[in-house]
Amino acid sequence: MSTVNAAFEDLNDLAQSATAQFANAHTPAELENAKAQFLGKAGRVTALMKGLAQFSADEKKTRGAAINQTKQAIEVALNARRQALQEAELERQLAAEALDVTLPGRQRGQGGLHPISLTWQRIEQIFGSMGFDVGDGPEIENDWYNFTALNNPPNHPARSMQDTFYVDMNDADGHPYCLRTHTSPMQIRYAVAHARRQAAELAHGQMSEIRVIVPGRTYRVDNDATHSPMFHQFEGLWLGENVSFKDLKVTYLSFCKAFFETDDLILRFRPSYFPFTEPSAEIDIQFQHGPLAGKWLEVSGSGQVHPQVVRNMGLDPERFIGFAFGSGIDRLAMLRYGVNDLRLFFEGDIRFLGQFR
Ligand code: DAH
Repeated sequence: MSTVNAAFEDLNDLAQSATAQFANAHTPAELENAKAQFLGKAGRVTALMKGLAQFSADEKKTRGAAINQTKQAIEVALNARRQALQEAELERQLAAEALDVTLPGRQRGQGGLHPISLTWQRIEQIFGSMGFDVGDGPEIENDWYNFTALNNPPNHPARSMQDTFYVDMNDADGHPYCLRTHTSPMQIRYAVAHARRQAAELAHGQMSEIRVIVPGRTYRVDNDATHSPMFHQFEGLWLGENVSFKDLKVTYLSFCKAFFETDDLILRFRPSYFPFTEPSAEIDIQFQHGPLAGKWLEVSGSGQVHPQVVRNMGLDPERFIGFAFGSGIDRLAMLRYGVNDLRLFFEGDIRFLGQFR
């Protein structure tokens, strides 16, 4: 009887130690390992079952029944632990996927125009209000329009004023292509097209005035805080039989006042040199108030269109006089917005660009 009692105590211990080990298992894998120690092929309960063989039929019955009870108790503990682990796992998943409905929603980013585009549009609008047409022309230009027709012949030292990217290709007349260094070639293209449209009137000695601006991308071999290999200019051309330097001055001053939204500025026409104008002048602007007050800031080249250029337009320089200017769009945008590094415009940093709307 004592052996049987002892055996029952062992079985109690066995069930308790199984329950304790199951409680120590914190993952399904750990639990399966623990289970194997008791119920597996080499487990302790299985060993007890195998050991029954040595006992008499009666003893087999009582011992077998006791072992079975223990086995059942262990299985109950195992299932309870399994369930507990599953519930814990579910809790964990629910917590991980928790949705905080009080958080602010995700906003869809709102796009806006680039500051250079805003400036470009503003320039078109102001000159449009003064009766200027808006022209558009090729960025890959030939040598004739970019230089020669503008009175800047091959090998002339003035060509080095504008260091150029050449394209390894010639047009049908053998002129090499380059990325245009300025918007000035559009003076010729626009005037030639205008004269062609007005051929009948021209034959009767008349032609309506040319008043146009041409904004666009331009290219030079240049790269620092105030120069970029790609930049923007707009060309202005006013050509007719009764146009004078006064018109250029009034027009440009009116433009600056409208563009900067102030009357508190003055202009200076500083003598300069360009092959395609004679006389030529740089236009400097000076604000009378604000952070830039008192400084002369160069904003444009300008001048009276050279007679040879008028001739290259197919027009008679004895009759038609023109005034032209070429201004930097980026430069004007920098002054208007107070930006001190041109490269910021072209780096695509949303933190910078998002400030202009
Ligand atoms: N094309 C010149 C440049 O890029 C600027 C310029 C000067 C344009 C005088 C003009 C002009 O139309 O008359 O430096």
